[in-house]
Amino acid sequence: MASSRLLLAVAVVAGCAMGLSGATDHIVGANRGWNPNINYTLWSGNHTFVVGDLISFRYQKGTHNVFEVNQTGYDNCTMDGLAGNWTSGKDFIPLNERRRYFFICGNGFCQAGMKVAVTVHPGALVGTEMPMVPPGPDSTASAAAATTSTSFTASAWLAVAALAVVIAAVA
Ligand SMILES: *[C@@H]1O[C@H](CO)[C@@H](O)[C@H](O)[C@H]1NC(C)=O
Ligand SMILES: *[C@@H]1O[C@H](CO)[C@@H](O)[C@H](O)[C@H]1NC(C)=O
Ligand SMILES: *[C@@H]1O[C@H](CO)[C@@H](O)[C@H](O)[C@H]1NC(C)=O
Ligand SMILES: *[C@@H]1O[C@H](CO)[C@@H](O)[C@H](O)[C@H]1NC(C)=O
Ligand SMILES: *[C@@H]1O[C@H](CO)[C@@H](O)[C@H](O)[C@H]1NC(C)=O
Repeated sequence: MASSRLLLAVAVVAGCAMGLSGATDHIVGANRGWNPNINYTLWSGNHTFVVGDLISFRYQKGTHNVFEVNQTGYDNCTMDGLAGNWTSGKDFIPLNERRRYFFICGNGFCQAGMKVAVTVHPGALVGTEMPMVPPGPDSTASAAAATTSTSFTASAWLAVAALAVVIAAVA
């Protein structure tokens, strides 16, 4: 029972950590990936992009690629305003600015629909909903928190600090 409570506590903290870090990875085309003959306007219309999110492209390396261009390049399938290119087949691109981003396939498949435009909105403030709680005095919980936190990003540390309190609550 104690171990299942600890698992619950870890799950709660992990959930908090994800909520805190807040970055969403938007996989272009979802399970259809980055390929011809998909309407990516429909895909992007179904997603909300905020500053700090990632957009990621999955495709066959060598066949396709990803070029960031400006609106002229997007509208006309040209390299106008080229601002970046990615070719790994699994590219994660941070959306760090509040603006419109335009991506096309630079291997001639843009005309076949491989183009996507996304509007990135300002990020919401994170962490404001977390109550400010002092770290628990329980040394076991602190050890668990230290072990658990190693796989978390830096932004999760605040949530991990609440682990001892969560364990105390469910025990
Ligand atoms: C993609 O879908 C949008 C929204 O329905 C539509 O306006 C657009 O013409 C479509 N694009 C293509 C290439 O079919
Ligand atoms: C958004 O996704 C849902 C579920 O996959 C789908 O039914 C809907 O048509 C999509 N909307 C747009 C604008 O693509
Ligand atoms: C696309 O190219 C045409 C000429 O090929 C040009 O007239 C038009 O302005 C371009 N689109 C944009 C958005 O600039
Ligand atoms: C895109 O970049 C091209 C080349 O630098 C430039 O001529 C064009 O005006 C730009 N288009 C937009 C919409 O900024
Ligand atoms: C792609 O980006 C690299 C740098 O990351 C640059 O050296 C290369 O010239 C770019 N290729 C094109 C076609 O712009």
